[in-house]
Amino acid sequence: MDKWQVMYKEKLASAEEIVKQVPSNAICATSCALGEAVGLAQALAERAEREELTGITHHLLLTLKNLKYLEPGMESKMKHVSYFTSGYARKTVQEGRADFMPCYYKDVPMIWRELVKAEVFYATVSPMDKHGWFSFGVSASTSRAQMSRANKIFLEVNENMPRTHGSQFVHISEVDAVFENNVPLAELGEAPITGQDRIIGDYIAELIPNGASIQLGIGGVPNAVAKALKTKKDLGLHSEMFTEGMVDLLESGAVNNSKKNIHRYKSITAFAAGSRRMYDFLDDNPGVEFHSIDYVNDINIIALHDNFVSINATIEVDLIGQACSESLGPKQFSGTGGQVDFVRGAGLSKNGKSFITTYSTAKNDSISKIKPMLTEGSHVTCTKNDIDYVVTEYGAAKLKGKTASQRAKELIAIAHPKFREELTFAAKKMNLMV
Ligand code: COA
Repeated sequence: MDKWQVMYKEKLASAEEIVKQVPSNAICATSCALGEAVGLAQALAERAEREELTGITHHLLLTLKNLKYLEPGMESKMKHVSYFTSGYARKTVQEGRADFMPCYYKDVPMIWRELVKAEVFYATVSPMDKHGWFSFGVSASTSRAQMSRANKIFLEVNENMPRTHGSQFVHISEVDAVFENNVPLAELGEAPITGQDRIIGDYIAELIPNGASIQLGIGGVPNAVAKALKTKKDLGLHSEMFTEGMVDLLESGAVNNSKKNIHRYKSITAFAAGSRRMYDFLDDNPGVEFHSIDYVNDINIIALHDNFVSINATIEVDLIGQACSESLGPKQFSGTGGQVDFVRGAGLSKNGKSFITTYSTAKNDSISKIKPMLTEGSHVTCTKNDIDYVVTEYGAAKLKGKTASQRAKELIAIAHPKFREELTFAAKKMNLMV
C-alpha cells in the first residue's frame, strides 16, 4: 500500500465518530448543493437532537437534500444558514427557522476567507486518486475558501461524485478524517419548457451571434434558449452553473469554445446539478473545468470574453428597470446568486449583452410582473443602472442607454396587453411619459 493509501486508512472513520469532534457553538460550513456532506450533516443533526450539542450553525449555499437539521424545532440546536433559499431551505427560511446570508455569489469565498471563520468544514468529494487528491466534483464554487481557516476538515467520499477537472482539489494530508458514503447523488428534473419559454427563448437566441460565450441560469427559459441555440456555431460556455441543456449544446457541436479569448476549447463552470447522465458526462471530462466562484463570476474575467451573453430570470421589474429576482415582496424566495455578477460582467464585455427574462404575468394572468413600482419590501437584485435587456413573451426591451421615459415605454410595450393601459396611467402620474 502506498503512503497516501496508508494515510487514507488511518483517517477513515464512521460518521458518528467524526461528528464527536464538533464542539457546541461551532460554525460549520459545507460545500454548495451536491457538495453537501449529507451523511455527516445528518449525523451531526442527530447528535444535536440528542442534546449533546447546542448552538451549531450549518452554512450551506443551496440545499438539495431534506436533512434533519431542517426539521421544525432543530433551529435551537443546529441552525441552518442559507445563501440561496431554493428547494428545501425556502420554507425553513420563510418560517423563521433558518437564517439567510445576503451576498453576491462571487463574494462568498471572500466571506469565508475574511469575515466568517468556519471551525468545521465538511464536503462530499470523489474518491482519492493515486497522488492523494480528491476532486470537489460538481461543487467547486466555494469549498477551498470555506476550508481555508477551518480547525477541522472532514471529507465524505462518494464514488457517485464525478471526478471533475479544473483547479478545485483537496489532498488527504490536509484533512482530519474521511467517511465513505456511496449514496446516489440528488438529481434535478429538467424544468418543462412552456410555449411562453419557447417564445422568449427564440427572441433571445435571435440576438446571440455565432461565437458568443454564454451563461445560462436554471429554469424553463434558459432550457428553451439552450434548445434554440443548437443551430448556432462556435459558442463558448462560461457559466457559474452547468446545466442539463449544456450537455446537449456540447454534444451537438453548437458549443466548441473555439472563439473564446481565454480558456479556449474549455467550458468553465463552478457547480453543476442535473441528471445522472450529466454527472457521467462530467466525470473525468477535461473539456469542462470547475473553478472557484470568485474566479468564474469575477466580472473582470467575464469581461475578457468578447460577445458575452448572460441569461437569467426575475420575479418582477419596475418601470425604471429595477429587477427583484429573489423575493416575493419581503418574503425570501431564492437569492442573488450570480445574476448580478453576470449582468455586470456581460456589461463590461465587448459587444456583451445580458437578458433578464420573465413571463409578463403571474397567477393566471391576475398579476403583471412589470409594475410601476416594485412590490413593497422586494429585494432589489439588479439595479436600473446594471440592467440591459428585459424579455417577456411580448418581446425584448433594451433598457441600457435609454432614458427613464424611454424605459417605461419599452417595458409597457412588453407587458401583457391587459395591463398596458393601467401601466401607462401610472407612468403618466410618475411623470415618466415625457
Ligand atoms: N408576483 C407574485 N407571484 C409571483 C411573481 C410576482 N411578480 N413572480 C413569480 N411569482 C410566483 C409564481 O407564480 C410561482 O408561483 P407558483 O409556484 O405558485 O406557481 C412562483 O412565484 C415562482 O415563480 P417562477 O417564475 O416559476 O420562478 P422560477 O422557479 O422560474 O425562478 C427566479 C425564477 C427569478 C426566482 C430564479 O430564477 C432566481 O432565483 N433567480 C435569481 C438568481 C439567479 O438568477 N442566479 C443565476 C443563475 S444560477
